Amino acid sequence: MDRWQTIIEPFRIHSVEPVRLTTVEQRQAALEAAGYNLFNLHADDVLIDLLTDSGTGAMSRDQWAAIQHGDESYAGSPSWFAFLDSVQHLFPFKHVIPTHQGRAAEKILFSVVGGPGKVVPNNTHFDTTRANVEASGAEAIDLVIPEGRDPAFIHPFKGNMDVAALDRLLTDRPGAVPVVFVTITNNSGGGQPVSLENLRAVRAVCDRHGVPLFLDACRFAENAWFIKLREPGQADRSIPDIVREMASLADGMTMSAKKDGLANIGGWLALNDDGLAEQCRNLLILTEGFPTYGGLAGRDLEAIAQGLREVVDEDYLRYRIQSTAYLGDALDSSGVPLVKPFGGHAIYLDARALLPHIPPMAYPGQALAIALYREGGIRGCEIGTVMFGKRPDGSEAPAAMDLVRLAIPRRTYTQSHIDYVIEVVRFVAARAASLRGVRIVEQPAALRHFTARFAPLD
Ligand code: F0G
Repeated sequence: MDRWQTIIEPFRIHSVEPVRLTTVEQRQAALEAAGYNLFNLHADDVLIDLLTDSGTGAMSRDQWAAIQHGDESYAGSPSWFAFLDSVQHLFPFKHVIPTHQGRAAEKILFSVVGGPGKVVPNNTHFDTTRANVEASGAEAIDLVIPEGRDPAFIHPFKGNMDVAALDRLLTDRPGAVPVVFVTITNNSGGGQPVSLENLRAVRAVCDRHGVPLFLDACRFAENAWFIKLREPGQADRSIPDIVREMASLADGMTMSAKKDGLANIGGWLALNDDGLAEQCRNLLILTEGFPTYGGLAGRDLEAIAQGLREVVDEDYLRYRIQSTAYLGDALDSSGVPLVKPFGGHAIYLDARALLPHIPPMAYPGQALAIALYREGGIRGCEIGTVMFGKRPDGSEAPAAMDLVRLAIPRRTYTQSHIDYVIEVVRFVAARAASLRGVRIVEQPAALRHFTARFAPLD
């Protein structure tokens, strides 16, 4: 295999979905109608949709076949047992609580362990995770290593937790930290992996302070692949074996099966603590459903069970990580500033570096995302001051970085789609000096990036 340089998709296409070409004028009109918020677009007006890798992947033949096995019994469905086996094969936690997606698991967990006066550290909270921590009244703190905050700094495990800072927090605020979280891979920090060595060190600090450690494991397989490639001594291990070691270092996890579950919906909360599991199950019944289906249909549980078998396949992961790097390498060689090294599920454009004439409070990431859509019909996602710049007290400050994420749906786009993306980004980057910032015209109290409306600045 290593003889050939071309990355091929390790699958053939089995059913096709049309995409619609539009003109710049049509896209400008769509932008105006959407208040310049790409979340407000009609997805038919998007040509290449890189808004998210969440729930947007293509399922396999075997997942569609598994869907036909879906058993919709209210309680004790065989599909639940297939799901449970598949989850526990990789994550042998005692209790597995299915939810309709990742944030439902977060909501349940933080409703039980959060609350005023509590503080939850993470390498970097994803937006829904932060919002669920804060909605409980607790404080969310990001403690990624300093290298993880510098977009261009090369480090093999830029998602690692700053262990010394974690130790200080746990020492300074005894009793206030109900759980320590580590997000694998660190999505908000650029899809960067966390090493086993770092997880072991975090575990040791947690043990010293008697605090449980949970994984936000959305992209666990991509994280395991980076460990296999980059961490000394890990090259010969199987992916499931690495995943099980990551799980063995934690007391529980939250999961969105819309990422490395290779499914379009689903998630779970898993943990070892009996008392906590009981409290979480009680909440699950209130908002999600009976404990053997959570918020899911039996057929969804089957699709996830099969997806978890496919996502740890090395041919798939090699293609997945190489094809993301293919986009990154091409843009990097054209001088487009990027978060490096490249993450697993996305390439992050450094809008603050590309658009130095647009200050953070004029939202350079939003300006760049708008331009990519207007010029080429490509929908990316601002991860910067729009997403993170508003604090719970209503004040505003620049986020650590202003990025535009081009997230790659799994097994969905071909290399020629990506070649087109490369062409459009190069075109926009060459005209960066002509881009203008935006202002916010309307915004909600929380998670404003989903619904805020913008206007271009003169
Ligand atoms: N944690 C991380 C690290 C995530 O990336 C996401 C979702 C969630 C939790 C929540 O999971 O969507 O199933 O409720 N991230 C998506 C994204 C939405 O676009 O990165 P969910």
